[in-house]
Amino acid sequence: MDLVSRLPQALAAPSPPIPRLDRMAYGGDYNPEQWPEKVWHEDVALMRAAGVNLVSVGIFAWALLEPAEGRYEFGWLDRVLDLLHENGVSIDLATPTAAPPAWFSRRHPESRIVTRDGVVLGGGARQSFCPSSPAYAEAAARITEQLARRYAGHPGLVMWHSHNEYGGANGLCYCAVSGEAFRGWLRDRYGDLAALNEAWGTTFWGQRYGDWGEIEPPVAAPTAVNPAQQLDYLRFTSDAHLANFRRERDILHRWSPGVPVTTNFQIANCKTIDYFKWGAEVDVVSNDHYIQPERPDNHIELAMCADLTRGVASGTPWLLMEHSTSAVNWKPRNLAKRPGEMRRNSLSHVARGSDAVLFFQWRASRFGAEKFHSAMLPQGGTDTRVWREVVELGADLGRLDELRGTRVAADVAVLWDWESWWALELDWRPSVDLSYLDRVEAYYERLWRDNLTVDFVHPTGALDGYPLVVAPSLYLTTPATAARLRAYVAGGGTLVVSYFSGIVDETDTVHPGAYPGALRDLLGLTVEEFLPLPAGGVVHLSDGAVADVWTEDLALAGATAELTYVDGPAAGRPAVTRHTLGTGTAWYVSTRVDPAGVLRRAYTDAGVTPPDGVPDGVELIRRVGEAASYVVAINHSSADAVVRASGVELLTGAACPESVVVPAGAVRVLRTL
Ligand code: GLA
Repeated sequence: MDLVSRLPQALAAPSPPIPRLDRMAYGGDYNPEQWPEKVWHEDVALMRAAGVNLVSVGIFAWALLEPAEGRYEFGWLDRVLDLLHENGVSIDLATPTAAPPAWFSRRHPESRIVTRDGVVLGGGARQSFCPSSPAYAEAAARITEQLARRYAGHPGLVMWHSHNEYGGANGLCYCAVSGEAFRGWLRDRYGDLAALNEAWGTTFWGQRYGDWGEIEPPVAAPTAVNPAQQLDYLRFTSDAHLANFRRERDILHRWSPGVPVTTNFQIANCKTIDYFKWGAEVDVVSNDHYIQPERPDNHIELAMCADLTRGVASGTPWLLMEHSTSAVNWKPRNLAKRPGEMRRNSLSHVARGSDAVLFFQWRASRFGAEKFHSAMLPQGGTDTRVWREVVELGADLGRLDELRGTRVAADVAVLWDWESWWALELDWRPSVDLSYLDRVEAYYERLWRDNLTVDFVHPTGALDGYPLVVAPSLYLTTPATAARLRAYVAGGGTLVVSYFSGIVDETDTVHPGAYPGALRDLLGLTVEEFLPLPAGGVVHLSDGAVADVWTEDLALAGATAELTYVDGPAAGRPAVTRHTLGTGTAWYVSTRVDPAGVLRRAYTDAGVTPPDGVPDGVELIRRVGEAASYVVAINHSSADAVVRASGVELLTGAACPESVVVPAGAVRVLRTL
């Protein structure tokens, strides 16, 4: 394997560094309001010891900053921020708008969230507000303005952290206020009722609207609610949260031009926010990621989320705003991370483009809902394994500073679209076993195991330069996307499409003619009938592979059958096809099968060569800068591994003329020669 010669032909220009961050950021959420003031002094001393240089402050402090409407108490925050700055810890100052105070909810009962079933949700938690509430918008703008005015000029301020995880706990609200806002959003989108009736197909079941006031949010109904209405409600909701973000961002920009504004995303874990749309709105993309502790392959899911975050950031450096040093507290079983795991997790994010390693949270809380959540400083203090690893990681990041601003070199593009995810999983699909994430994760995992790095791209994003594009689940495919995919293939690209793609347009209306209407010509086939399998049912393909969940009755119209069904409802019919179009190739996989086989064939068409000789369980990622290139090698296995690559190992300082040994469970970072 020659890693250096595998560098991609053309990488986008190096990114400008994240404004105001002059080091690889290390730290986390800091909630000093939970502690007596004397503890703050211990905090900053320990932050220095651990190499912490950035903390997010005030995220849930609204009730303390504005204890009664219009009465502000900033004294404590003044002292915290000054103390941090005096100790060399930069400040990512939060607007506290994710936790409106109790006085707000009491005064504005109409701002409470109403579930789809009509249940009004109470307070005593956080994010207890409807995203469309005008009263909330006004109150949030007021506290944001106060903070911005007071701290815009603070010398320790390097970034604004708007809100916390928009849509996290209050993703969807179905109250009367939301209904009014939804109708306004629909007027903007459709202009007139005739266009809405057309788009929603309201002749079906006699749903035609004669007055805007008749339209409701898609609340619980006697049977399936109009899917186009549900899809628009998801778009509307993502936009409602985005409007809240924009309001705060614009205030912050006005008071402190040049200070970047971010907000922490929950990429791949929050279905209600269309993050591709948000990526262009934030100054810096930030993400929170928590591993799925019971999944043995959770490091692959981590890699996928990190790559998707970079995709949302259009390839530019991003910030890992939160993850955990060890266990979380909100899973059914909160497995602790084992020695070295936090480090592997952290550096996996760095390898995939993060210029920060930040945690929830600095010091473990003694009270409240998250007291069993791990922290940088555990309940047990500094004489603990977690603390020792936190200090070591801080030192490691200091050694990796030169990676900041470099770009991740990807081999393959995978399409990702929140709208397609939403639409695919609405009710009354041909099988309840259809799942968006299932297919994306399956294709991603195979590419990961083949040591190919993925760029996630929105269907409207640029595909030039990628030899291979995978569309794992593109149920919703607009005619424009179909045309672009066709041009990509005709121009020499290789495309792999998984089943139940190209079926509907943006209104969840089936494209005219045989399935898959949007991709029929490109794939050189039609799907005469969907043939989903019963629960537990399996079929066999002509290469011996076993598939489940889904099959189709394909009729070829230019494509060739590369694999056929041996048994099951489509026995004897094509299962995996290949179509040559222009100078490229389009593959179609009509069943839920391990993608290893089809990807191997597609690699040949695309001229993609997975690196050989990479030891099992070792992950290799490349970051490329103007002055140097880097290889991050992460050994997830329990055996030491040798990776053939030459350069200087940054964590140990060792010169590696030919290869580097990556001990079991360890990470090595090479500046390559
Ligand atoms: C989220 C939130 C944090 C905290 C952590 C716990 O990411 O943003 O406030 O609740 O989860 O894992």
